[in-house]
Amino acid sequence: MRYLDIKTAKRISKIGLGTWQFGSREWGYGDSYAEHEAHAIVRRAVELGITLFDTAEIYGFGRSERIVGQALGDDRESIFLATKIFPIAPFAPVVEQRGVASANRLGVRRLDLYQVHQPNPAVRDRTIMRGMRALQRVGLVDEVGVSNYSLTRWQAAENALGTRVLSNQVRYNLVDRAPERELLPYAESHGRVVIAYSPLAQGLLSGRYHRDSPPANRVRAANPLFLPDNIERAGDLIAALREVADAHSATPAQIALAWVIRGPAVVAIPGASNVGQLESNVAAADIELADDEYEALQAASSRFRPITGRAAVPRLVRAQLGR
Ligand SMILES: NC(=O)c1ccc[n+]([C@@H]2O[C@H](COP(=O)([O-])OP(=O)(O)OC[C@H]3O[C@@H](n4cnc5c(N)ncnc54)[C@H](OP(=O)(O)O)[C@@H]3O)[C@@H](O)[C@H]2O)c1
Repeated sequence: MRYLDIKTAKRISKIGLGTWQFGSREWGYGDSYAEHEAHAIVRRAVELGITLFDTAEIYGFGRSERIVGQALGDDRESIFLATKIFPIAPFAPVVEQRGVASANRLGVRRLDLYQVHQPNPAVRDRTIMRGMRALQRVGLVDEVGVSNYSLTRWQAAENALGTRVLSNQVRYNLVDRAPERELLPYAESHGRVVIAYSPLAQGLLSGRYHRDSPPANRVRAANPLFLPDNIERAGDLIAALREVADAHSATPAQIALAWVIRGPAVVAIPGASNVGQLESNVAAADIELADDEYEALQAASSRFRPITGRAAVPRLVRAQLGR
């Protein structure tokens, strides 16, 4: 495992573990996954040197936090535990109460990173950061983070908190490279962190899905990337990943992750549906892409033009009806 070169109380692994999948019905992994596999994934992740675990109060309505907390047991000295508050009515007393509730579910006295899940369009960050500051003051929260924030809003949150907002958790993968414009350069130059979610584009970049065999669950049924036409359009990008993967005796998923974490200020938090995937994802931390490989992947990524937005809506409806 490799770790971020940034000053934090605990080391942050370049590959973390995303746990939206734990206990949430929309991924459709079932009760056995939540009761057994999820625990095994967490235990193996700790063994392999993962320190960054990402969850949220809304994942499975608290179930993900509980599963992570139980699976970690007492083994948490080096663990950098990150959770998120969904900012409904984010007034200070509400934020404080919800932070305590998350810590209780996780079984910790201190949250290493407490993130605002997404910007509240109607309430400014001054309000939520009042609660965050109070939680930091009493020692329940170490670092504060945000998620799905623009650079302007990240900086505004930081001004409101009066100290660093360590991280911004955003979608970053070979299909969606928007963070390269502002967020990554800012993080690199200011000692901040971009936490890349959906680094495998929810599994698309593994190359295991085909036009006639898209993944079957609610999350991906609602994601236009998994429209049969888009899976087909992704063929060129998957082929580029395969070519680089062959040169490293690796898989397309591992190369997709190695690409995401290449920058010094970015970490990735892939989810995993089994222990084998977790092990494979951890191994991606040791893959170093050559410049020409990196550029070939950038080029293939730029050529990929999925159907999105309004054009995707009737197709999504048709695909859902056809399932
Ligand atoms: N802040 C936010 O708004 C936000 C939004 C989304 C996600 N997140 C966080 O980011 C985490 C990861 O994002 P995500 O789950 O959306 O997408 P992801 O990590 O890109 O995709 C995860 C899925 O990819 C497949 N996969 C994982 N490793 C693989 C491997 N080695 N080989 C082949 N397939 C593999 C698995 O699905 P199958 O085996 O079923 O194909 C797995 O469930 C979440 O768990 C959550 O913690 C945050």
